[in-house]
Amino acid sequence: MGVLIELRQASKSITVSDSVQLDIIKSCSLSVSSGESVAIVGPSGSGKTTLLNLMAGFDQPTSGEVNLFGQPMSQMNELEKIQLRGSRLSFVFQDFHLLPALTALENITYLLTMHHKDHIHETAHYWLEQVGLSKRSGHLPSQLSGGECQRVAIARAFALGAELILADEPTGNLDKSTKDKVVDLFFECQSKRSTAVIIVTHDLSLADRCGRQLTL
Ligand SMILES: Nc1ncnc2c1ncn2[C@@H]1O[C@H](COP(=O)(O)OP(=O)(O)OP(=O)(O)O)[C@@H](O)[C@H]1O
Ligand SMILES: [Mg+2]
Repeated sequence: MGVLIELRQASKSITVSDSVQLDIIKSCSLSVSSGESVAIVGPSGSGKTTLLNLMAGFDQPTSGEVNLFGQPMSQMNELEKIQLRGSRLSFVFQDFHLLPALTALENITYLLTMHHKDHIHETAHYWLEQVGLSKRSGHLPSQLSGGECQRVAIARAFALGAELILADEPTGNLDKSTKDKVVDLFFECQSKRSTAVIIVTHDLSLADRCGRQLTL
């Protein structure tokens, strides 16, 4: 199994003022390979989103190193990081990051077009159907509820067909029945496509289904 992401004693501190330094992530080491599932758990403010951002290269560690797909991100500029992530890494943002001027369907087709995928419309419709939103495909994010936007963001992440999915509280806005269906999709991707999934969650039943748990 190939290692997809590796953190070596990664730390993140932020200087809030002259006298106050906030140590958000303290010397975190972790290695995740294809087909693995890892839950990141911990109370609000414990650094879960910060850690995911370090993994994807959206943020840089203050010390230590993050290797993504075998390459150290400290030696790359932003363009090189974008190229490295390419279509190999999908991110489900805690606040969705849907493009407001695009419909649910277009939010997915836009990403697939950017990454030169084939069968773009079929794939986008398939994943919207999987998250139970076929009938809302033509609606803008502003016309959708928080849970519906969250499911569009999840459908978009799956549609890319990435090797590694990083998801930040992907079920936080969902009712139990919808949540159960969406969670099954994560584990289907993991078992059928050997996608590695790293999921930040407060939901202990979801965390229990993951192969490993990291508590912050
Ligand atoms: N740019 C920043 N400037 C100052 N403090 C920050 C910054 N980014 C994060 N923090 C602080 O770091 C801590 C961790 O934040 P983070 O968003 O990673 O937590 P979290 O575990 O994802 O929380 P939640 O469960 O509420 O989403 C918080 O106390 C936050 O205020
Ligand atoms: Mg968070």
